[in-house]
Amino acid sequence: MSPKPRVVITRKIPAACEAEAQRLFDAVVNATDTPLTTAQLQEALKTADALLPTVTDKVTAEVLGVAGRRAKIVANFGVGFNNIDIKAAKELGLTVTNTPDVLTDDTADIAMTLLLMTARRAGEGERHVRGKAWTGWRPTHMLGTKVSGKVLGLIGFGRIAKAVARRAHHGFGMRVIFSDPYPPSAEEARALGAEPRASLEDVLREADFVSLHCPATPETRHLLNAERLRLMKPDAYLINSARGDVVDEAALVAALQAGTIKGAGLDVFEKEPVVTEALLGMENVVLLPHLGSATLDTREAMGFRALENLKLFFAGQPVRDRVV
Ligand code: DGY
Repeated sequence: MSPKPRVVITRKIPAACEAEAQRLFDAVVNATDTPLTTAQLQEALKTADALLPTVTDKVTAEVLGVAGRRAKIVANFGVGFNNIDIKAAKELGLTVTNTPDVLTDDTADIAMTLLLMTARRAGEGERHVRGKAWTGWRPTHMLGTKVSGKVLGLIGFGRIAKAVARRAHHGFGMRVIFSDPYPPSAEEARALGAEPRASLEDVLREADFVSLHCPATPETRHLLNAERLRLMKPDAYLINSARGDVVDEAALVAALQAGTIKGAGLDVFEKEPVVTEALLGMENVVLLPHLGSATLDTREAMGFRALENLKLFFAGQPVRDRVV
């Protein structure tokens, strides 16, 4: 019997996934649960048949190009794969997979959480109560922005954006508009209560809430820059549950300080886990620590999906979620 493939798992994963990984493979888990260095990632690629990294591991061309590499597949634990140099992986003939679908609902829920929290001042209200500053109900206390019936603008209209549209339109009676270079059929958009707009700029001008749902690529880096932020209405909110570098964080801070937008809800940041200091002191900003997919159900589903990709690969079958 040939030995089980050796798989290096770069962070702790849910116990059920770890048990399955040990059953299927000779799995080595980074029990320290801290990010591996470039040298450690290179060592993993040299000593294992597969790497199972997460979205915070920087799997660069330097890592992938290590001399004496044994691994032939990188099975990312995450749907986004901007942490991996896909061009280098392709050139080196490596297979890369991700974990789509299974986190769609949770990530859409986080976008709606951020939207509701910013509009209804939930973070600020929580701090108010915990700080023992609350003196009781009064008609003008902590007034927020009504969500029902407002216009939600989605930048990007993939799986997660569609799940947000469904929640926002059918759950909150919002009007949904979107821009995407690859729009869905008119029929699919209609079923979600969503109307296309010709450009991203049109969405920014019209929306009361702008929610970002595009991947992080060189083309989308700082897509929301100072110039585009200026197109938003002064009483509009920006929601980002996609990737931090889609927004120019310094420009966002400037817009919030100048009051050219009303608030922001952020689950992702340009230099995670570092958050621009100025944001930490703003009451009109809700900040979450990249919780998009953070439920046990979903993290287990992501882990099993990554393991499924590895299993298929080592069985010589087509992987389910091939990126390259
Ligand atoms: C992903 O999978 O890309 C998410 O950002 C993790 O929550």
